Amino acid sequence: MSEPEGVPGASGEHGVSEERQVPRAGGGDGRDFLVVEDLHAGYGAVRVLHGVSLRVGEGEICAILGPNGAGKTTLLRALCGMVRGHGSVRLAGTPLSGRAPDAVARRGVAHVPEGRGTFVPLTVEENLRLGAYARRDRAGIQADLDRVYGHFPVLKERVKQAAGSLSGGEQQMLAIGRALMSRPRLLLLDEPSLGLAPMVTRELFGIVRSINQEERTTVVVVEQNAHLALDIAAQAHVLESGRIVLSGSADEIKADEQVAQSYLGYRI
Ligand SMILES: Nc1ncnc2c1ncn2[C@@H]1O[C@H](COP(=O)(O)OP(=O)(O)OP(=O)(O)O)[C@@H](O)[C@H]1O
Ligand SMILES: [Mg+2]
Repeated sequence: MSEPEGVPGASGEHGVSEERQVPRAGGGDGRDFLVVEDLHAGYGAVRVLHGVSLRVGEGEICAILGPNGAGKTTLLRALCGMVRGHGSVRLAGTPLSGRAPDAVARRGVAHVPEGRGTFVPLTVEENLRLGAYARRDRAGIQADLDRVYGHFPVLKERVKQAAGSLSGGEQQMLAIGRALMSRPRLLLLDEPSLGLAPMVTRELFGIVRSINQEERTTVVVVEQNAHLALDIAAQAHVLESGRIVLSGSADEIKADEQVAQSYLGYRI
């Protein structure tokens, strides 16, 4: 686990290793699928991210944790082009920074926003087909619908039902299913557990893990439920006031619960 220099708590007062693990360009750790370097972003005059750097390996799940207002949603928005920023974002070596959301999506990034964003008057299947709007391969789309129904059998039982009449958990599944319809290489999930009962959340995280394992989809998940996120993630980063203040393997962060807790402000 490591803490960047110049941030509160970085002095080792929590008893963590002094080893620095701030990601570097060209580092040989194999985490070079998504490479974010010195990313700054915000909304007009409001600066939110102040130099975020992180690396995610292909097929890995990476968790972003942090208190409310830390900039987690803004980070995902900056990765998918919804928020403009300075700095470098590369996916499999291709620069994404400065590109519009549709261009980022065409390069394989799917974003499931906070609050899900399903189209409530449309049916389950219409919502899923919208996820494939940029595709013309009808046979492939049908195969992917079947693949999504394989991950989320409950959606198959509700194909003709309006999205607005689904339960919260089902709507979250629909939002993830819709993202999968674009066959993403990188899936960005913003607070998938928001408002869901613990049992539903556990089921959802189990499905995210099987999508990751079966399809090798790389996942960056922002999550308040740090415990669950750390169970499925390989790596985790804690964001505080727009800066990464703690990075490490999920196991390291879980093992040093007190440190993580001091940043998060709640138990993991
Ligand atoms: N559209 C916006 N315009 C101006 N400021 C914004 C906008 N969206 C977010 N902010 C500000 O950016 C900061 C970071 O917000 P963000 O939503 O990224 O945090 P977060 O870590 O996702 O928080 P939460 O855990 O509550 O979802 C906050 O201070 C917020 O007020
Ligand atoms: Mg948020």
